[in-house]
Amino acid sequence: MLSFDEEVVPVKQVAGLNAVALNTGAAHKVEVESTYTMAAAGNGRIRVEDKSIINCSADVNQLVPFKYKWAWEKYLAGCANHWMPQEINMSADIALWKNPNGLTADERLLVKRNLGFFSTADSLAANNIVLGTYRHITNPECRQYLLRQAFEEAIHTHAYQYIVESLGLDDGEIFNMYHEVSSIRDKDEFLLPFIDTLTNPHFKTGTPEADQNLLKSLIVFACIMEGMFFYVGFVQILALGRQNKMTGAAEQYQYILRDESMHLNFGVDLINQIKMENPHLWTPAFREEVRGLIQKGVELEYRYAEDTMPRGILGLNAGMFKEYLRFIANRRCQQIGVDILYPGASNPFPWMAEMIDLKKEKNFFETRVTEYQTGGALSWD
Ligand SMILES: [Fe+2]
Ligand SMILES: [Fe+2]
Repeated sequence: MLSFDEEVVPVKQVAGLNAVALNTGAAHKVEVESTYTMAAAGNGRIRVEDKSIINCSADVNQLVPFKYKWAWEKYLAGCANHWMPQEINMSADIALWKNPNGLTADERLLVKRNLGFFSTADSLAANNIVLGTYRHITNPECRQYLLRQAFEEAIHTHAYQYIVESLGLDDGEIFNMYHEVSSIRDKDEFLLPFIDTLTNPHFKTGTPEADQNLLKSLIVFACIMEGMFFYVGFVQILALGRQNKMTGAAEQYQYILRDESMHLNFGVDLINQIKMENPHLWTPAFREEVRGLIQKGVELEYRYAEDTMPRGILGLNAGMFKEYLRFIANRRCQQIGVDILYPGASNPFPWMAEMIDLKKEKNFFETRVTEYQTGGALSWD
C-alpha cells in the first residue's frame, strides 16, 4: 500500500498528467501514471480552493471536499437512471420487421441507416472519454461523472447491437456504414481531428493554445456530437414509436436520449466552468471559430437527414429537420454563450421537447436537474 508520507520523485510529464515514480519502500521503484503531486498530498489536506477543472495539481485520487457539486449530482442522477438493453422486450419489433407488410421500404432504410450511424458513434464517444477527455480533466468529481458516462456509452453500443441482433439484420452491413455511407462517414470524419487532439499521447494542456484546443474538442464533442449529431436519429426512431412501430427500439432510444441529454448538460457545465476559470481562452476569434464549427455541424447533420429519408416519411421531411437543426444549434450557442446562428428558428417537433430533453436540458448555471428518477418503463402517447 502506498503511503502519501513517503518520498515521491517526479520523473516526467506524460500526456498532460504528472507522471511520478513512487518510492514504495520496496527494493524497486514502480513508475505509474498518477495524478497527484506532493504540493497537495504532502502539505496537509486538500482545500476546495485548490481544485480546478484543468491544469490542477491537487490530488485527483481524493474525491472530497467537493468543489463542483453539479458534477457529483449528475453522477448520482446518471446512476439513478441505470438501465440495460436486454430489459426491453423486442418481440413486437421482431414481428413487425419480419412481416413483409409491416414497414415500408423507406422505413426500413431509415432504421438501417439510423443504426448504421449510432452503432459506431457511441464507441467513438466512449473512446474519446476514456482515452482522451478523462486524462485532461484534473478534477475527481468530474472524473467520477466521466466514468459513469463512459459506462453509459458502452450500454448504448450494447443497445444498438441488441437491436441489430434482435431484428436479424446483417451486422456487417450496419457496423460498416460509417465507412461505406458518405453522410455517416462525413459526420465521423468531421469529429475525428477533435478526438485525435485529446487522445494524442503527446498532447498536454497548460498553454493558452493547448487549453483552447481542449476546450474546442469539448465543445465539438458535447454540443455538436452529443448535442446535434444524435438528434435527427432520435427524432426518427421516436417518431416511429409514436406511430406504434418499433416500440422496443423506440423505448431504448428514449432511455439513450435521456442519458445523452445528461451528457450534453454535463459537457455544457464543464465548458462554462473552464471558461469561468480561464477567461483568457474565450476570445472573440475563438468564439467565431466555435460558431463556424456549429454551422458546419448543422450542414452535416442536415445531409444525413436527407440521406436517411430522401422522400419524407412519418410526417417528417428533410426541410423540417433543417429548421429543427437550426433551432437546436441556436440552443447550443446559448448554452455556451456564443451568438446564435439562425435568428427566428423554431421547433417543428414540439413533441420532442415535451417528451424528452428540453425540460431536462437544465444545467447548473440555470437550475438544478431534479426530475430524474430510477425508471420503470417509459410510456408512449
Ligand atoms: Fe451514447
Ligand atoms: Fe453520450
